[in-house]
Amino acid sequence: MSPPAKRARQARRQRAAPGTPPLTVVILAAGQGTRMRSALPKVLQPLAGRPLLEHVLEVAASLQPAAIHVVYGHGGERVREQFVAAPAAAAGALRWTRQAEQLGTGHALAQALPAIAAGQQVLVLYGDVPLLRTGTLRALCELAGADGVALLTANLEQPAGYGRIVRDRSGAIRRIIEHGDASARERRIREINTGVLVAPASRMRDWLQRLQPRNAQGEYYLTDIIALAVRERLRVRTLDAADTTEILGINDKQQLAQAEAVYRWRRAQELMSCGVTIVDPARIDLRGSIEVGADVLLDVNVVLEGPVRLRDGVQIGPNCVLSRATIGANTRVYANCLLQDAEVGADCRIGPYARLRPGARIAAGAHIGNFVEIKNSHIGADSKVNHLSYVGDATIGAGVNVGAGTITCNYDGADKWQTRIGDRAFIGSGTMLVAPVTVGAEATIGAGSTITADAPAGKLTLARSRQLTIEEWQRRKKTPR
Ligand code: UD1
Ligand code: CA
Repeated sequence: MSPPAKRARQARRQRAAPGTPPLTVVILAAGQGTRMRSALPKVLQPLAGRPLLEHVLEVAASLQPAAIHVVYGHGGERVREQFVAAPAAAAGALRWTRQAEQLGTGHALAQALPAIAAGQQVLVLYGDVPLLRTGTLRALCELAGADGVALLTANLEQPAGYGRIVRDRSGAIRRIIEHGDASARERRIREINTGVLVAPASRMRDWLQRLQPRNAQGEYYLTDIIALAVRERLRVRTLDAADTTEILGINDKQQLAQAEAVYRWRRAQELMSCGVTIVDPARIDLRGSIEVGADVLLDVNVVLEGPVRLRDGVQIGPNCVLSRATIGANTRVYANCLLQDAEVGADCRIGPYARLRPGARIAAGAHIGNFVEIKNSHIGADSKVNHLSYVGDATIGAGVNVGAGTITCNYDGADKWQTRIGDRAFIGSGTMLVAPVTVGAEATIGAGSTITADAPAGKLTLARSRQLTIEEWQRRKKTPR
């Protein structure tokens, strides 16, 4: 059996083990999100550069459920299309259910329920609550057990807007009251509903059929099933989310910015616990997978978009953006550099103000200086391109010196052409290398040359007009008036 097939079988066996009932996750994501005041559907609003819904899908998938159902509606196919290639979709476990009209969270869940088998425990997540951790959701599922109900709650200093948890004198939960329907007294309750709950599919079916839209919003509230469960004398257990940043619901741009700050802080903490020095964790953006060695330093306003690999001793200066990049040991990237799809070896010096574009491969010990742009090129070991140059579609050997202002003229208006420069060549400042062209090893190109034909190895090649001095020339004088 192939390893993936084996893993899948093991996962299925684990799910079927006694005490761990089969789990289905339903993500409610059909709401419009009017308060965002945006043409983009709420669940597609970016958090750390990825749609809110992607964050929720990721934590859902981490529970290895039998299936994940997304109830979508507002934004329609646009939402769905965005996730055809999502990892959970690739596993074949992602199902989409359309809620044509947004009649409330209870109505939304009811749309997905017919596709869920009776024996399942159903975990409900919201598309706009993106910061939940796997551990918290696992604990909630365990609390619910095979056929119980469990609700994730939190105690907030500022509970306004959230549904409140109403308990009786003994402390047992009675019901959830939405903010809009709550009395002044109920609004003082600081224990809130996070929206996340687990309940058996079979019971949910029944409860959802009995919901009535008799409330301030005229909606079918999912939260009303708690009162129904209590009436059936079912024990509803609650789990208090100790870390209230996890349960932040995103309804407007202010909350989106808050979530961004939480996310930023979490990622910074992860890296700091791996030993990375972060000059200011509040001024850094870390997205996607980031691999770090020992003694890495990240200065202020660094943006890393994974996959990024930083080997031991790498230092990234202020205001650098690295997207999909690998940086070798002890390399320093100075301030204000932009690196995309680039690979840099060990002991290099990059920047300040350098731009490495896709396909830039810089070998060990090379220096790429200020206002230098490198695209789809290999720069050999210990070579230097220190000032104001454009190197595109080039292969440069080891120990080469590329003088200031050198340009590979790689584009003729129709096609791109290659430039090749041999080891230890010296390219004088201000050279135009009109590709396709080859400069041999240890060749020297005189400054200011426009090289249109191959330059032989070991020789000096010049391609510029001779300097001329006009002896009898006189500068014009201003005509007197
Ligand atoms: C909901 C809860 C509230 C809780 C809060 C936590 C209800 C009635 N209230 O309120 O108790 O404190 O979340 O964040 O459940 N959605 C649909 N279809 C609909 C309506 C909503 O899919 O018809 C989705 C939304 O896209 C969203 C989620 O359900 O992802 C929650 O809906 P929202 O309108 O944001 O509910 P809240 O008012 O925040
Ligand atoms: Ca909400």
